[in-house]
Amino acid sequence: MKRLPRTQFGNPILRKKAKKVSPKLFSSRSLKQLIKEMFFTMRRVGGVGLAAPQVGKPLQLAVIEIKKTPTRPEVVPLAPTIIINPEILAISKEKINDWEGCLSLPNVRGLVPRHKGVTIKYSDQSGERHVVKLRGFQARVFQHEIDHLDGTVYVDRMQDMQSLMTSKEFKVRILGKGLKSK
Ligand code: NI
Repeated sequence: MKRLPRTQFGNPILRKKAKKVSPKLFSSRSLKQLIKEMFFTMRRVGGVGLAAPQVGKPLQLAVIEIKKTPTRPEVVPLAPTIIINPEILAISKEKINDWEGCLSLPNVRGLVPRHKGVTIKYSDQSGERHVVKLRGFQARVFQHEIDHLDGTVYVDRMQDMQSLMTSKEFKVRILGKGLKSK
């Protein structure tokens, strides 16, 4: 399997609202194949989420998979999850700032405020509906990916643009400090 070519910031597809996946497309071979390739691509490039517009497909579809890593030891893992035609049903008032990056803007990080908790409705690849209540990092990742389906990228949400930094500086200034205590 090959990695799918990825779109990057500046590509207008990342700024458009993605189209809903039609009932016809659910359970189709082409959708199954696209999802497989999206998971493969996301894992190869080391992401926790990937939205279809990021691989040039203007569809309301994203894949998410969260694992604990040495730099994210606190996260609650999430098994491979496919979200199609998602809707945010409820949000917590409280927002928290945390670091985000995006596969469409490689080697850059920034502090992004996100709702601490969200309730999301989505369909899986067979069209079955799910409603999930998420908190913390999982809630953050879902918000980031759903933003992609609306044509929003994380820098649009940033309040402190001065926190924007390269991954190299991030490793030294943020991860370096955090990991020293271990
Ligand atoms: Ni992204």
